[in-house]
Amino acid sequence: KRTKVWPVTLPADVRQLQEAADLLRSGGLVAFPTETVYGLGADARNTEAIRQVFEAKGRPSDNPLIVHIADKSQLDALVLPYPELAGRLMDAFWPGPLTFVLPVIPGAVSPLVTAGLDTVGVRMPDHPAALALIRQSGCPLAGPSANKSGRPSPTEAGHVLDDLDGRIGGVVDGGACGVGLESTVIQITGEDGVRILRPGGITPEQLEQAAPGVRIDAPTAAGEQTEAPRSPGMKYTHYAPHGEMVIVCGEPSAVAACIRKEAGLAKARGETTGVLAFAEHAAEYEADVVLSCGSKQELGQAAAGLYASLRHFDEAGIQRIWAEGCPEEGLGLALMNRLRKAAGGQVIRV
Ligand code: TXA
Ligand code: MG
Repeated sequence: KRTKVWPVTLPADVRQLQEAADLLRSGGLVAFPTETVYGLGADARNTEAIRQVFEAKGRPSDNPLIVHIADKSQLDALVLPYPELAGRLMDAFWPGPLTFVLPVIPGAVSPLVTAGLDTVGVRMPDHPAALALIRQSGCPLAGPSANKSGRPSPTEAGHVLDDLDGRIGGVVDGGACGVGLESTVIQITGEDGVRILRPGGITPEQLEQAAPGVRIDAPTAAGEQTEAPRSPGMKYTHYAPHGEMVIVCGEPSAVAACIRKEAGLAKARGETTGVLAFAEHAAEYEADVVLSCGSKQELGQAAAGLYASLRHFDEAGIQRIWAEGCPEEGLGLALMNRLRKAAGGQVIRV
């Protein structure tokens, strides 16, 4: 089965999305661009379509999907009354990379979408093609990242095809994603508490400006998680490149010295080596592949390019990868969260 590619120029034209929207309405699978990563879209109400999403991705069935909407009014058919704070945060951050876990109306979406939970994750993506596709299809769109489970998330249509060509109906090609990391997943607790289940494109600092009680309930370097993960997806090793990866944190010159030494030893053993470095230090490394992820002062570029870099190491057949760590502030929290997952938790402190 061929996977179609529909290039979309912005603002999206209804004719460009016609075939994709029709396919979604009839239960097909269509990958689509968002501001974070590409999503694998399917009608959230259609259990057979959602079953195929899990099958195409090879995704464990206990990991629920996010539902994408284009208008706040779509919430009426999806979720039960929710706290006022959720509404205020939607107004502040939607469309945008923020997902709310809200009480679901029983039967509103396929039970496969919620993995049997009594909540559903909902977000309004900040991408004109995604919004146009949702409107034109008339479906609330379930949309996990459009990668094979365990692979780095796709930030270009080509990444989607690398993983899912022949397994899905098509992909709407809207070019590279701007944010590059998935949305922040939150749940409102009590009157004014915000619990971050997965760090992402909206930072804790941004949320704090709108809500007083923000708590991070995802593993960070400072405090490893004690409770069972509330966002089921957080327990899986994700985003991993084929090569073995290690993150090195600490004072910049010590980090560079450590990576140079380790990479030198690996090279002497005959292994292919890769380094993911900030622009400030990239010139200091002599590995087989050195990728600069932009300035440490501006983590947006590192976030936008992270997954493409991990895929690049794979294409180059790199066996050992070292990545420079960064402070877990602002976007650095989500960046380090994804890096740690890619590295299977291997962090060296120098
Ligand atoms: O930016 C994003 O969020 C992208 C784009 C395509 O929108 N989507 C995405 O979906 O990252 P996915 O399926 O790869 O990740 C969804 C995350 C998982 O960690 C899942 O466990 C969590 O959201 N999640 C979904 N529904 C949930 C629920 N009802 N309760 C707790 N966590 C939930
Ligand atoms: Mg994913």
